[in-house]
Amino acid sequence: MPKPQVFATRPLFPAAQKILNVNCESEYWTKPERISKEELHQRIKEKEGLVALLTERVNEELLSAAPKLRIVSNIAVGFDNIDVPACTRRGVVVTNTPGVLDETTADFAWALLMAVARRLGEGEQLARSGNWQGWDLDQLVGTDVWGKTLGIVGFGRIGRAVARRAAGFQMKVLYCDAIRAPLDIEKELKAEHRDFNSLLADSDFVTSHVPLLAETRGLFNAARFARMKPTAFFINTSRGAVVEEAALVHALESGKLAGAALDVYENEPFIHPGLKRPNVVLAPHLASGSLETRTKMACIAANNIVALFKGQRPPNILNPEVLKAH
Ligand code: DGY
Repeated sequence: MPKPQVFATRPLFPAAQKILNVNCESEYWTKPERISKEELHQRIKEKEGLVALLTERVNEELLSAAPKLRIVSNIAVGFDNIDVPACTRRGVVVTNTPGVLDETTADFAWALLMAVARRLGEGEQLARSGNWQGWDLDQLVGTDVWGKTLGIVGFGRIGRAVARRAAGFQMKVLYCDAIRAPLDIEKELKAEHRDFNSLLADSDFVTSHVPLLAETRGLFNAARFARMKPTAFFINTSRGAVVEEAALVHALESGKLAGAALDVYENEPFIHPGLKRPNVVLAPHLASGSLETRTKMACIAANNIVALFKGQRPPNILNPEVLKAH
């Protein structure tokens, strides 16, 4: 039996390549630059499987270029880069990589929160600049984190992992989510359910952990930023498009917000020039980026592909109706 042909838009980590290579005829994009849309469409003409990054757009155009495609395995928990209904219509399975990146992403949300509150970016620049004159009483004084109020928007696995870490900082934790968490979770995490507006009004730090959906696109807009305290900070490790970036820039410029720390942007890799301010910490979409976690994500993506070609249900299938139709 010939092995199924699979294309991956990155070489993957060795552990993931091993899984894929044993079971599939796999081809990898190994050039340092990203694969262009045209090249990708060309390469997947005969392929049955695609391992994609969140930077690839999987839409009607791509699907038309790959008539034999049976599965798109995204190496990310978010899948807003994929037109899942279009895949379903064509009988293409879509999978993602949930579960393994929650703690790593929560760690990074905290790294950003701490960095912006304590002006770490500015401090690092000063320390490297050669201009540091030594300790001074009011030098780069920031804001305390401990004992403050943390508002978590989106209380899924990552939001809850962020809440768990707040206990060490003796913080009050508020959360909002379309679905209220079970009472035992609220109790364990000492998290208080609030509606969105009341959370915004009472939090010193607001951190976003919502997926990008039609309902969450532009969720953080001018009206929402206006509800926040002028001393508050906004942190985003979810998706850039849940924020109206121009509104965030305006809130920062007009002093309606104390600062922001961002890992994700509306039109990556473009970063709005108005965000390049001292009171904004900027990271290039790194939150899940530990070697351990990225390796696990790549292995999950490889295993999802292999499962389908072995006639099994891929563990992280997003459109199971495709399998039922067969
Ligand atoms: C995801 O998985 O959706 C992150 O944005 C990248 O790890």
